[in-house]
Amino acid sequence: MSRPLYDRPILARHQTGLMNKFSRVASMQPQTHVDGVPVQTLIEAYGSPLFVFSEKTIVARYRELRDAFARRFSKVRVAWSYKTNYLDAICRVLHREGAWAEVVSEFEWEKARHNGVPGERIHLNGPLKTEATLRRVLPEGTLIHIDNFDELALLERLADELHLTPKVALRVNLAVESIPAWSRFGFNLESGQAMTAANRILTGKRLDLVGLHCHLGTFILDPASYREQASKLAGLANELRRAHGAIMSFLDIGGGFASRSKLKAQYLPGEQASPSFDRYAAACAEGMAALDYPAGSEPTIVLESGRALVDDSGTLLSTVIANKRMPDGQRGLVVDAGVNVLFTSFWYDHDVVPAQPFGGISEPTVMYGPLCMNIDVVRDTIQFPPMRAGDQVVFRNVGAYNVTQWMQFITYRPAVVIIGADGRHGIIRKREQLETLLASEEVPSWL
Ligand SMILES: Cc1ncc(COP(=O)(O)O)c(C=O)c1O
Repeated sequence: MSRPLYDRPILARHQTGLMNKFSRVASMQPQTHVDGVPVQTLIEAYGSPLFVFSEKTIVARYRELRDAFARRFSKVRVAWSYKTNYLDAICRVLHREGAWAEVVSEFEWEKARHNGVPGERIHLNGPLKTEATLRRVLPEGTLIHIDNFDELALLERLADELHLTPKVALRVNLAVESIPAWSRFGFNLESGQAMTAANRILTGKRLDLVGLHCHLGTFILDPASYREQASKLAGLANELRRAHGAIMSFLDIGGGFASRSKLKAQYLPGEQASPSFDRYAAACAEGMAALDYPAGSEPTIVLESGRALVDDSGTLLSTVIANKRMPDGQRGLVVDAGVNVLFTSFWYDHDVVPAQPFGGISEPTVMYGPLCMNIDVVRDTIQFPPMRAGDQVVFRNVGAYNVTQWMQFITYRPAVVIIGADGRHGIIRKREQLETLLASEEVPSWL
């Protein structure tokens, strides 16, 4: 029999069963299973820490997004934002559902092609479009979202050289209330720069302007931002029609919808603060009503959602390494997943709960990762019950941007598994090992 854990006695007001300020009972519930599979089974099979994705949740979120817009627009396309999570298995679930790809580098473009997406079903965004990249993707009909005048000039030259008329979209940045503008990407609307670029494309006739695009930012909590964005994009499209008779085949509103996660600066929990896809779609439809196009030529509405599609399908399982008592009186908990793995914990207060039933009194706890670095804090103060070394915890809503922005630092990156709709589970990325790293290292002959 193991010895009971000694915990320093403290005085704490016992509130179990009472409503907190969010109208929820304050007590925390353990999460012992993921999609019906015991956490214990998963960790025994694949190790700890471990990312676990739910195929069921990805599909449900995808359909919810598509349907919310399809109820309001005759033509809708979801272009999966690869940077959010480009593991093949995750991308293939989304492509199987009908998603195109939205990529921001040649690497991501190759990944989408590797996943069976035809070149003409890929939107290529971002500032990183070298001549070599454009030479590679243009013959395959990829849609190029132009970011700046140098890129525009390069595309015109390549169009002449390759005897092609590339299909392009104009990336536009614009101001909406309540969020700072992401003005470093694309052509500014308010200053007239976007109109100048469009005039050049439409009069030059070397490029085929088929779309307008604007990505506002990420984790946008106010649907009204999309109303403003849509009405400004529609206004630009109207101007281009009046000036040139040009009709866009698509208007792309980018990504940015919030998941159920919670930003550090946010007051309400994610499930209360994050708008539904329906509310975003309603706001977008209100703004798009400004579009003055002839009947039958309605543009396709393109959505480049990333975070909101996969964040809630991803869970990180982690094991407690040790308890500590910090000098300020807080309990410290050291777990085996740090900021190297859970990169988004720099900006988000991730929802974390024990993976097994627990007792004892919860107290303010700071959760550290395993790195020998002071910055390795995966959760600042959270009311948490006592845990023993070897117990497990579950971080929820962590499926976006972690398995792309994670870093190999101090230790190996963990395995990633997916649980299928029927409860089967399988690995989608192996845990790294020494050989993984040595494979790309070289030692020069003189050493
Ligand atoms: C051009 C573009 N589209 C889509 C996305 C996806 O955004 P989100 O994950 O917030 O939906 C991004 C992310 O930064 C982006 O830069």
